[in-house]
Order: sequence, then structure tokens, then C-alpha cells
Amino acid sequence: MLANARGDSALRKVLGPFDLVLMGIGAIVGTGIFVLTGTGAVTAGPALTLSFVIAAIACGFAALCYAEFASAVPVAGSIYTYSYATMGELVAWMIGWDLLLEYGLATSAVSVGWSGYFQSLISGFGLKLPVVLSAAPGAIPGVETWINLPALLIMLVLTAMLSWGVRESARLNGIMVVIKIAVVLLFIAVGMGHVKPANWTPFMPFGMNGVMSAAALVFFAFIGFDAVTSAAEEVKRPERDLPIGIIGSLAVCTILYVLVAGIMTGIVPFAQFAGVDHPVSLALQVAKENWVAGFVDLGAILGMMTVILVMAYGQTRVIFAMSRDGLLPKRLSHVNPRFGTPFFATWVVGIVFGLIAAVVPLNVLAELINIGTLAAFCLVSVAVVVLRRTRPELPRAFRCPWVPVVPALAVVFCVILMTFLSKTTWIAFGIWLALGLAVYFGYSRSRSLLHR
Ligand code: ALA
Repeated sequence: MLANARGDSALRKVLGPFDLVLMGIGAIVGTGIFVLTGTGAVTAGPALTLSFVIAAIACGFAALCYAEFASAVPVAGSIYTYSYATMGELVAWMIGWDLLLEYGLATSAVSVGWSGYFQSLISGFGLKLPVVLSAAPGAIPGVETWINLPALLIMLVLTAMLSWGVRESARLNGIMVVIKIAVVLLFIAVGMGHVKPANWTPFMPFGMNGVMSAAALVFFAFIGFDAVTSAAEEVKRPERDLPIGIIGSLAVCTILYVLVAGIMTGIVPFAQFAGVDHPVSLALQVAKENWVAGFVDLGAILGMMTVILVMAYGQTRVIFAMSRDGLLPKRLSHVNPRFGTPFFATWVVGIVFGLIAAVVPLNVLAELINIGTLAAFCLVSVAVVVLRRTRPELPRAFRCPWVPVVPALAVVFCVILMTFLSKTTWIAFGIWLALGLAVYFGYSRSRSLLHR
């Protein structure tokens, strides 16, 4: 996905707007729609549809800023590398540190989502894991669980693939996108006939507060469009095609998400989604469409695996770039001569975030990822305005329209969503940032190659 990971400027310009939209959908559709809609429905009721629209608008503004920021120097480590060159080491470090949280925990979160659908699929064949091995402690209220074993195992399997150099190819991505969209459309087509409109009233049982809290959670469902911006150098006409790719994939996903949320809450009374980790196929099971539910499980499983691969790949490349600059231990940017991959870094990432997936519930992970991503979007939006002033001459493959209005709207929307995240999430994020500063001043600063 990070097509320019080598900073190669001789890449062929072959991608058009349609390719970009597909690429975006491939990276976006995953745990957000397949899993988090359950908690979203319990939080907002049928108005979850509205939550998706609000989250999409925030993403749209931020995405335009992100595209300008990333299109100037698209190289390994994405915006980390660029901010290093333009805003100095400390800001770059904090953005990189923030991205480590985003990509890393996203792999954990999607693995947990994968596990829910995997368990739903095997249950169709009469197989069942011991309950204590099926989820993280505290993930299912009132049930004793120790560890999410499938989530840990899928992380380790995909880590092995990545470390051997199996890269998510454009072709594989294309197939996965088709499967994912097919599954979602199948759900919409079959589910529509089972909707009972009475389930939609009351539409907003928890008021705007519920709608906004759910928006702050399902924002997760839109994360991943940065995959589109990383292709800037390979696009035929970036100025025109990048915004089409970003806004197009966000728009398609928004329409799909709103339909899915509306149909789900139309089939099953929203309160019944409490604690359910495979809400989309559950809705079909309730509608007695067990065969279709099985297909949805299978499609979701395949689709989420690609999201994990993309995120884990992005993660190792950020670590690679930070280590190459001397900010993280050198070993993390060592390329294994046999496989041609950052073998050590890939396994560190896989084991650490696999263990996190095993013991932390999905909602906690999703909120943390969202706060990190929203904070990064704010920084990037501000940076776009600052750089227009301080470095007007920088070549930009894509320019965000209506600066500074769009960046300002991006910041406003992102900050509003952040305020609806829980206090625990804010505290955890604060600790992560403080830890980042401590590592920087205690370790990285004195070893930084640029600094020396
Ligand atoms: N948007 C991605 C997902 O929902 C991260 O899985």
C-alpha cells in the first residue's frame, strides 16, 4: 500500500481516479463497519446513521489537508518523514510517536474484530472455543474471559507473512475490495427485506449526546484513507485525481455504512447489540438468513485480514524511518538480507500488538486509535496552513482547497469528536504522549543523526 516506501521518484504514473477510490475502499472497510456498529447502535440507537455522516464530514476535511501534506514529499514513514524536514525533530517525533499508536493499535483492533467473525463462522460448523479463550478480560460484561486467542494467532500468522516479504499486492487488494463490497451489498440486498420500521423509533433514544459519542467511536470505520495519499507519485494527475480518490472513497464508504447501520437497526432492536462482536452477521441470523450470514462472516474475515496487513506494513515503515534517523534503536531499521524486509521490527510489532489484541477489549482500543488519529489530523491541518506561509515554494502535488477555511473546519470537527471520547481514553493518550517526550529527551535526542 505504501507504494513509495523507498522514496523512489521514478515510479510510473499509472493510477487513475478509479484505482484510487478502490484503493481507499480496500484500506477503509473493516472492523469499523463489521464490528463497531454493534456498540455504535447501543450508543446512538438507529441514529447511528447520523453518527456515520458526522464522522465522515470530519474525515473529509482532514483528508484534504492530509493529502496536501503527504503529497509534497511522499516517502517512507509518510507524514513523519515530511514533518521532520519541514517542522523539526520534536514535532516529527511526536507525530511519529502518535502514528506508532495509531497503526499499531489498529492492527490489534482489527485482529480483535477478525476474531469475532472467525468465531461466528466456525460456530456455523458447530465448533466453539472455550469461553475463557474467546475474548480479552472484561470484554463481555458478566462473563469470565482471559485471552482472545484467535486475535493473537492471526497477528502472528500475518506477521510471519509480512516478515517473509509477502506484500499486499495491488492485485490481491483488488480482489479483496471486490469481496468486501460484495459482502456489504449482499447484506444490504438481503437485509432490506427484513427491516421492521417500528425498530427505528425512537430514532434518537439518547439524544445528540449519543449520536456524537457514537460518531467519535465509528470514526474508526473511516481510518485508512491515507493509503490513497501515499500513492501520490504514481497518480497520473494528482491535482485532480487525489481529491477524487479521497473524497470518492469516503463518499462510497459513507453511503455503504449509512445503509448498513440503517438496515441493522431496522432488523434487530438496537439494545440487542450490546456485547455482540459480529453485529452484521447477527442481524442476518436474527432474520433467519443463516447461509447469507455465513458468507458475510467469510467476506469479513478475508477483508479484515487485508486491513491488518496494510496497517502492520505501515507501522513497520514508520518504525523503520524513525530508526534510520537515529530516533529508535538501530536494529529496528535492519533489513534482513535473505527476505529483504525489516524482519526484526516486523516481529517486534507483531508480538507486541498481538499480545495487546489478546488482552484489551476492542472498544478501548478503538477509542485510543481515534484520539491518536484525530490529534494527528489536527496537527497536520495546522501544519498545512503554517507551511503555506513559511514554505510557499515547496512543490505540492496536491493543494488543499480554501485554505485556511478547510483546515480550520478540520480542526473544529476533530476537536469536537475528541471531546466525546471517554476520560480514560484522554488519560491513556496523555500518558502515551508524556512517555513519548520522555523517550525523546532521554534517548532519541542525543542519538539523532540530524541533531549531531
Ligand atoms: N477503517 C478500518 C477498519 O474499520 C481501520 O477496520
